Amino acid sequence: MESQRGTTMIEQSFDCYSAGFQDSLDELPDCFTITDPYISGNPIVYASSGFLEMFGYSKYEVIGRNGRIFQGPKTNRRSVLEVREAIREERDIQISLLNYRKDGTPFWMLFHMCPVFDEKDGRVIHFLGVQVPILRRPKPSGAGLNLCQDGAGCRESVLRCYRREVHSMSVERALSLASGSGLDFTGVDVDGPCDASDLEKRKSTAVIDNILTVLVHDGESTGRPVHGKRRSQPGTGQLGASLNISLGRIKQSFVLTDANLPDMPIVFASDNFLKLTGFSRNELLGYNCRSFSGMDTDSSSQFRIKECIQNEQPCTLRMLNYR
Ligand SMILES: Cc1cc2nc3c(=O)[nH]c(=O)nc-3n(C[C@H](O)[C@H](O)[C@H](O)COP(=O)(O)O)c2cc1C
Repeated sequence: MESQRGTTMIEQSFDCYSAGFQDSLDELPDCFTITDPYISGNPIVYASSGFLEMFGYSKYEVIGRNGRIFQGPKTNRRSVLEVREAIREERDIQISLLNYRKDGTPFWMLFHMCPVFDEKDGRVIHFLGVQVPILRRPKPSGAGLNLCQDGAGCRESVLRCYRREVHSMSVERALSLASGSGLDFTGVDVDGPCDASDLEKRKSTAVIDNILTVLVHDGESTGRPVHGKRRSQPGTGQLGASLNISLGRIKQSFVLTDANLPDMPIVFASDNFLKLTGFSRNELLGYNCRSFSGMDTDSSSQFRIKECIQNEQPCTLRMLNYR
């Protein structure tokens, strides 16, 4: 039931785009994921085939999961916290991260993430993450060093060609070339740091721009414009993406209502509250909590709640509600 609800929300995540939207994304050769901060845990709702190839997972293994599953024991916690902070502040970040493929192989990638805004109300509706592999010479013990035994200059020139080529080939080809060239992921220096080259940085920016163009173009065609930059202030009535993500970490059953809006509608409902009441999030957001009362709900309890709200006082009581 719980996972069904999650699946439905993931399917609905792209409702604001056209029917052919996912096909347009599928055509892009790059390695990227899209998450939905309005679903508990900010899960991946789209993973490109380039991404799946690079990480070695199937689509079904990553959709619904948070991007942190690709981190491992040697992933730098400070970098992860920087990503978390960027999400909280709803801003771009470009940072090197050590990730792990499904088979456990660590590799460095340049992670570039940006929020996607609803142009009308300025809310973040998705986050877009692009992963560009950083391909580097392995430590001296690496088997591939004898690929080019006539000095560092030669190795560097191979690397340069290699990097240049990687940017114009499929991820699968890049990976197979990498593993045959001594630049394979098994030889990476997991202790880092591993800075991305300017080329890799430009590449990730170009990929972000390209995908945003697809999103913006599609949004225009459906009359639900999105944008890579916030153009208006977030509207009232819905919590910001970052607050949603933070509240989603709380495991208790609770709702939050907005006292500044007419009829104090629910603006957040926790996963455990949905579980307890059997409602879906869409059935609750925007409605007043009185929807849970029914025929046998004690009117004195309702009156007491009303009174406490008016006097801005806390209130604890037992009352009959309906699922
Ligand atoms: C769109 C998007 C894609 C992400 N992709 C990755 C990824 O490929 N690898 C990774 O290590 N983290 C990725 N993350 C970051 C994690 O999901 C998470 O935000 C990060 O670990 C910080 O949060 P935490 O401290 O709660 O783990 C991604 C985040 C977003 C928003």
